[in-house]
Amino acid sequence: MRRDIVHIGAGQLRYEIREIVKTADALEELGVEIIWENIGDPIQKGEPMAGWIKDIVVELVQNNPSYGYTASAGDPETRAFLAAEVNARGGAQISPDDIFFFNGLGDAVSTLFTHLRKEARVLGPSPAYSTLSSAEASHSGYEHLTYRLDPAMGWQPDLDDIRLKVHYNDSVAGILLINPDNPTGAVYPQATLEAIVDIAGEHDLFVLCDETYASIVYPGIHTVALSEVIGDVPGIALRSISKEFPWPGARCGWMEVFNQDRDPIFKRYISSLLDAKRLEVCSTTLPQMAIPRIFADPRYPGHLERRASMFERRAEEAVGILSEAQGVTVVKPGGAFYLTVVFDAQLPSDGPMPPMANPAVEEKVKSIVSGVAPDKRFVYWLLGSTGICTVPLSGFCSDLPGFRVTLLENDDEKRRLTFEMLARAIQTYLKGD
Ligand SMILES: Cc1ncc(COP(=O)(O)O)c(C=O)c1O
Repeated sequence: MRRDIVHIGAGQLRYEIREIVKTADALEELGVEIIWENIGDPIQKGEPMAGWIKDIVVELVQNNPSYGYTASAGDPETRAFLAAEVNARGGAQISPDDIFFFNGLGDAVSTLFTHLRKEARVLGPSPAYSTLSSAEASHSGYEHLTYRLDPAMGWQPDLDDIRLKVHYNDSVAGILLINPDNPTGAVYPQATLEAIVDIAGEHDLFVLCDETYASIVYPGIHTVALSEVIGDVPGIALRSISKEFPWPGARCGWMEVFNQDRDPIFKRYISSLLDAKRLEVCSTTLPQMAIPRIFADPRYPGHLERRASMFERRAEEAVGILSEAQGVTVVKPGGAFYLTVVFDAQLPSDGPMPPMANPAVEEKVKSIVSGVAPDKRFVYWLLGSTGICTVPLSGFCSDLPGFRVTLLENDDEKRRLTFEMLARAIQTYLKGD
C-alpha cells in the first residue's frame, strides 16, 4: 500500500478465548469430541432461560416501539430506573444522564479506549480479561500495564504494586478492576475497593470497575458496588445483562458514571463517549426495554440467588476434584463462573509431550505448539488428548502458567466427568508419560 494503513495497536488485539476455536474446529474434523470450556456463555452450556423472563421478552416483541431506534444514551425509562437503583444503594447519587447504553460491554470497552487519549494509560489486573487488556494495549500501542492479582492471597489485588505503579508512572490516568473477577472468580471486600479508590483519589485518577458479574456473588461472600465506595472520585462502573439474565446474545450493557461534574477533563471525556455513540445512532432497543421489567419482577431476587448458589456448589465440586491433582493450585472463587488453575512450577516449553490416542491429532497439535507459551502448549495438548477446550493464562496477560475453565456445564454428569478428566490430564502431563 502507498501508506501503511495498519493501526499502531493492531498487534495487541488478541482474544485467546475465541482464537483457540479455530484449532478446536480443526481437531474436531480429525475426530476429537470438543468440550467447550473456553467461552463464558451460560446459554451455550445448556442453562435454560427462565420461562418468566422469556414471557417478558415475548410481550415486548408484541410492542411496536421495541422495533424502533432509541435515544443514543439508551432508553430514557430504563436509564431512569437504573439511576434510581444506583441511588437506592445510598452511595454516589446519579441521574439518568450518567447512564449510557452500549451493544454489550464489548462495545462499551472498545468505545472507552478508542476515545481515551493515547498517552493516558489504564492500569489493570493480571491475569486480565482480554477484551479490556487488549483494548487498553491497542489504544496505547504498548503492552497493557498491569498490577498483580496474587493467587497466594486468593487472587486479591496487590495494593502495594498498584501504589508503586501509579506513583512511578505518571501516564497512568485510571485504575481498572473487575469485581467479581474474570478469570479468577475473586470477589473484593469493601476495604480493598476503598483502598483502590483512595489511591485513585490521591493521584487524581479515575476508577473503572467492571461489574459484569455483580449479581453472581456466592452465599456468605460480601462485596459492594463501586457506587458505594467511590466518594467524590471520578468513576465508571460497567454493567451488563449478558451473564445475569443471562442473555449474552442481547448485546446489551451500560456504563454508570460517577462524579462527572467533579473534574472538567473527566466530564469532557465522558461527553466524547456519548458523541461517539450518537454517530452510531443508538444501541439495541428491545433488551434495554426488558431491563426494568425483569429487574423489578418479584421473581428476580430469587432467580439471582439460585444462580449464585448453583455456581457456588459447582465451584466447590470443581475445586474438590482438581485439588486432588498434584502440582497445581486452585483457589475457590467467590463469584462469577470461572476457575483458574495455576501450575506450581514452570512448564516445559519444548521437548516430548505425552502421547495422544489419535496420531493425526498428535501431529496437528505438534505442528502448532512450537514457540508458544508453555501453558498454551499444555492447553493445546489437553485439547488434542481430551477434547477439553480451555484458555491458557498467558492469554490473560499473565506470566503465571495456568488455564481457565468455566463452571457453566449444565449437565451434572458431564461437568463432573470433565473435571475428573482434567485432573487426570494434569497429572499425565506433569509426569510426562
Ligand atoms: C469481565 C467481563 N467484562 C465484559 C464482558 C463482555 O460482556 P458483554 O457480553 O456485555 O459484551 C465479559 C464477557 O465475558 C466479561 O467477562
